[in-house]
Amino acid sequence: MDQLKVAVIGCGNVSSVHLAAVVNNPRAQLVAVCDIKPERAQAAGEAYSVPYFTDYHDVLALKPDVVHICTPHHTHAELTIAACEKGIHVLTEKPMAVSLHDADRMITAAAEHNVTLGVIFQNRYNPASLAVKQAVESGRLGKIKGARMFVTWYRPDEYYSKSDWKGTWDKEGGGVLIDQAIHTMDLMQWIVGEIDYLKSAMANRTHDIIDVEDVAEATIHFKNGAIGSLYACNFYTYDAEVFLEVHGELGTAVIEKDKARIRIQGQPEERVYAEGDHEVVGKSYWGVSHKVQIDEFYQDILNGRRPQIDGDEGRKALEFVRACYYSATTGEAVHFPFNEPLGFTPPSLTK
Ligand SMILES: NC(=O)c1ccc[n+]([C@@H]2O[C@H](COP(=O)([O-])OP(=O)(O)OC[C@H]3O[C@@H](n4cnc5c(N)ncnc54)[C@H](O)[C@@H]3O)[C@@H](O)[C@H]2O)c1
Repeated sequence: MDQLKVAVIGCGNVSSVHLAAVVNNPRAQLVAVCDIKPERAQAAGEAYSVPYFTDYHDVLALKPDVVHICTPHHTHAELTIAACEKGIHVLTEKPMAVSLHDADRMITAAAEHNVTLGVIFQNRYNPASLAVKQAVESGRLGKIKGARMFVTWYRPDEYYSKSDWKGTWDKEGGGVLIDQAIHTMDLMQWIVGEIDYLKSAMANRTHDIIDVEDVAEATIHFKNGAIGSLYACNFYTYDAEVFLEVHGELGTAVIEKDKARIRIQGQPEERVYAEGDHEVVGKSYWGVSHKVQIDEFYQDILNGRRPQIDGDEGRKALEFVRACYYSATTGEAVHFPFNEPLGFTPPSLTK
């Protein structure tokens, strides 16, 4: 087999990035789209001249090789497990689930049915992220002492009022951490290393219409001795460039959005820019690396390899997020590995 039959489930905002990546990839053939909202399914089906469905079971019955899951967070586990049971490979959007229990069920289903599960964290594929990861792993920064990240974006009330799932603990699974900051949290733990324990606080300070956090901070102690600082909010005045700095004994490396600056003592500063095709489908702050990750996922399936961001790897960012929620709710430090109590849900943070 050198071409995969692919279906996209969920035809909302992010689907445009997936659909463009699928139809422009020679390793894939788009065979169906699906959305529970008939007008969205129809619009995507007609735009790409493929059959469209409103019930994902009808898509799975077609037995595509791969499904992309672009639906609300709380549906990822159900859809993934159903696809795995039909022997279909799954590439799901972040976060892989709203709880670690659901993430574990997804990982188990993929293993039991011998299918490949991948989780989208496209920013790992940005040249800037790869350059900073390489600077750390090669030892050029020396022993890592600290890391700090800032995500300060803008999500007005209308962002939530227009959605039937955002702003809720049960469907979105949280607010600024699980939806927006999770990308940078994933990069932080991927670049700095395993977390030992963390302590976090969160609040809802400006969004009266939602139950979840719109601001959070955390202090993270990594197993290698580094200390991390996290701040995220989505009531800033615009989507400011995300910031992640890694501080080593020999220098610092900074990622700002899709650019990197690496400063090593006694050496000229290195700058890494986003390379190649800058055509942006979707929002620019989503980055441009979906198509790189999607292509690598297809190649991994065709060559029988595990993807770089498989279920276990995708779970790490969710564990980081859920540990913050648990610590912020209980006031306790959370040690890793974090096994959250079954059914744990933070209380409503609405004032
Ligand atoms: N990687 C990124 O940069 C990035 C960017 C945006 C969104 N996302 C992720 O993509 C996912 C979707 O986000 P979005 O902004 O596109 O949401 P959205 O609400 O715009 O779209 C989701 C769509 O899924 C449909 N849907 C819901 N349940 C369904 C079901 N059971 N079967 C079929 N369709 C169903 C909805 O009707 C809706 O059209 C989320 O996981 C989100 O976090 C990722």
